[in-house]
Amino acid sequence: MPAGHLTTKHRTEPAVTAHTDARLVRVALLGCGTVGEGVVRLLRRNAEMFERKLGAAFDLAGVADRSLRPNPALGLESRLITRDPASLVIRPDIDIVVELFGGQEPARSLMLKALEAGKDVVTANKALLAENGDEIFRTAAKCGRAVGFEASVGGGVPIIRTLREALAGDRQLAVYGIVNGTCNSILSVMTEAGTEFEDALRQAQESGLAEADPTLDIEGHDAAHKLCLLVTLAFGVLLKPARVFTEGISRITRADINYARQLGYTIKLLAIAKDDNGAIEARVHPTMIPRRHLLADVAGAFNAIYVHSEALGPTMYYGQGAGQLPTATAVMADILEIARHRRAGSRGGAHALGYPAGAVRPGSIKRMDDVVCEYYLRFMARDQPGVLGAIASVLGRNRISIASVIQQERGVGSTVPVIMRTHEAPERNLKRALMAIAKLKMVESSAFIRIEERL
Ligand code: HSE
Repeated sequence: MPAGHLTTKHRTEPAVTAHTDARLVRVALLGCGTVGEGVVRLLRRNAEMFERKLGAAFDLAGVADRSLRPNPALGLESRLITRDPASLVIRPDIDIVVELFGGQEPARSLMLKALEAGKDVVTANKALLAENGDEIFRTAAKCGRAVGFEASVGGGVPIIRTLREALAGDRQLAVYGIVNGTCNSILSVMTEAGTEFEDALRQAQESGLAEADPTLDIEGHDAAHKLCLLVTLAFGVLLKPARVFTEGISRITRADINYARQLGYTIKLLAIAKDDNGAIEARVHPTMIPRRHLLADVAGAFNAIYVHSEALGPTMYYGQGAGQLPTATAVMADILEIARHRRAGSRGGAHALGYPAGAVRPGSIKRMDDVVCEYYLRFMARDQPGVLGAIASVLGRNRISIASVIQQERGVGSTVPVIMRTHEAPERNLKRALMAIAKLKMVESSAFIRIEERL
């Protein structure tokens, strides 16, 4: 029986050799970290079910791991493990390469090499697909191979397949995603326990949720990578991370969260995409959303993607956006789908992005200056007569209408917070107004958060 044959204990078929058994689908794993381990566990745990679903068994035929020491508890046979992924991805017996190294290189070169060698590829690598997806999907199309990437957005939440297939009969109008569990968890702790950002981040790091270097998550870049893929699937537009307006959560204060609550809002890091008659809005930033909205209840490390479709209306997809087994389920679903196509002799993945290769093109992306939002404004101002009037007059001159104001009782210091909620205005007007307000002697600082009132 071949090396990592993952079939049921009670299988009675005679042993077969690796190169001739059509009832085996051979999988190579690049990276046996958290998610890779999860894939190995699912391959074993569900071997019988997969065999029934597929009419063939999966064979874990090789594992490339930088450490050469995947978790010993997995009990992987040492002959399966290699430090030479380049040789593994072109091995003639391999059918499907599962790329879980993450990052750009060597993941990119290995995926291209695997596709060119006739392998199908499954990946969870949003950073790579967001930056280099066009090259990878074009190569897959040229080679007649598939790229599965369900695990790249929302972990175990099946949003890729949903946008590509389940919602394919409708036009998508907008997508709002809570797609970074680290940020959502930090904001939840700040909201529920009244913790400041730095303390909530430390807690997330201590619990193993946040990385030692959390920049990619907390500054919104991970969410921006995921948004690029959502935009392509929802609108057929190719988008690179550099074109996504990206702002993280590190400047959100406990005070902002409290004022948001007083105004009836919750603060979430949202990845937002809208199709405004062909002009695509694509932005990631802390956003105030109404506390009664479904997305406001998505707490902790959970993810949710709220999709507005023209005929269907809103739908929401919710679940565990990270973690070993949740993410591994998405990887497994791709492996299974690709294996089904291979066995049927059909070409899966020809429309991996929901469109034929070449039909996904760069689109017109709206400038942030033209994006229209309502805003929460927080000024720290000297507690003296005329402050409110001066601020209101600058806002008025810039065509920004005030919807409500919170001014606190006089405090101990020389400045007081002045909180305003505005009606809708283009961001260009807001920036001009804030520049003018910064010149007022009586205003010491200002901050703003965009509000999505009608999502
Ligand atoms: N770091 C991501 C998050 C999980 O915090 O959601 C992987 O995409």
